[in-house]
Amino acid sequence: FHVSMDASEADKGTYPHYMLKEIDDQPTVMRKLVQTYFNDDGQVTIDDELLADLQSADRLYIVAAGTSYHAGLVGERLFERLAAVPTEAHVSSEFAYNSPILSKHPFFIFLSQSGETADSREVLTEVNAKGYHSLTITNVQNSTLSREATYTMLLNAGPEIAVASTKAYTAQIAVEAIIAKALGEATQQVAAADFDLRRQLGLVANGIQALVDQKERFEAVAKDNFVDQRDAFYIGRGIDYAVSLEASLKLKEITYIHSEGVAAGELKHGPIALIESGTPVIGIITQERTASLTRSNLAETAARGSHIMTIVTKSLAKAHDDIILEDVDEMLTPLLTIIPAQLISYYTSLLKGLDVDKPRNLAKSVTVQ
Ligand code: G6P
Repeated sequence: FHVSMDASEADKGTYPHYMLKEIDDQPTVMRKLVQTYFNDDGQVTIDDELLADLQSADRLYIVAAGTSYHAGLVGERLFERLAAVPTEAHVSSEFAYNSPILSKHPFFIFLSQSGETADSREVLTEVNAKGYHSLTITNVQNSTLSREATYTMLLNAGPEIAVASTKAYTAQIAVEAIIAKALGEATQQVAAADFDLRRQLGLVANGIQALVDQKERFEAVAKDNFVDQRDAFYIGRGIDYAVSLEASLKLKEITYIHSEGVAAGELKHGPIALIESGTPVIGIITQERTASLTRSNLAETAARGSHIMTIVTKSLAKAHDDIILEDVDEMLTPLLTIIPAQLISYYTSLLKGLDVDKPRNLAKSVTVQ
């Protein structure tokens, strides 16, 4: 009889819910990934054959569902910026039946916390049938997607029990950064050589810790600004837009508040019609090039009565900003900006008296298409 999950690791201890424990686990998960994927000289290390396969690819296709897809959207930008390889993130259920025209030498990356998502398995079966190589990034060793892919990299995040994914998302982004750095170094990209990922992940771990240490603050935000709302919007541009989608998913999954992540520039093309008095609109602002544009978009919603809030990195912060994050490299800010959203969702769900860890209609692992 073999229990694959370490019972003590899956124990929620003194925590009232798995989700809160898993949010708190994130600094440790970041440090563990540094230990796993960096050698004693501080060099990033991934499997040699995997690296060779990645180098011969002319395009990367990231395939995933749900939160993992959102981590893929961040990965798309990391691979393009650090490794200069064209990368596309796709929703697996779409890719399976509406697949794009593939490049000459595609390489597939499957992101899946559980390694069992049927929609993603469907794509991998087809990828294998065509003889393409693939990597599964998963939290579960020997899961189906891991067994069926050419390579596996583990998230080492420890069991994730709450239906709403938290630490798997940040771990997936960190592993994507690790691969992008290794690939970029192998192909002599200056952006990769200049990027001190190991140090950055240390800063990220500290930055997450600083946020999870302010729980009462996020509880107050949930109470004052979210509990009684019907709609809520997260907005951002570029990588901040990618996080807006995940932030909004966290909220709708466990609070049943209608929420959308909106590309800040798209607000005026439709979503702004939904703004009513008091509707929360949260701006995620971490990219210097677009910060002032997103601020203007926020102001446009405020003029229609929204309640605006900002999640901003320290170097871009202004006097009236709400949630200020420690500075990390602009490419890694998703690892910090998602944390307030996770905590606000958690406390809103709790205050509404809902089942935080097991929201209605949702399953942790979806093995049907
Ligand atoms: C379900 C879960 C989500 C998860 C998605 C993909 O819908 O409720 O939290 O993001 O499946 O799961 P995977 O295990 O493939 O990452």
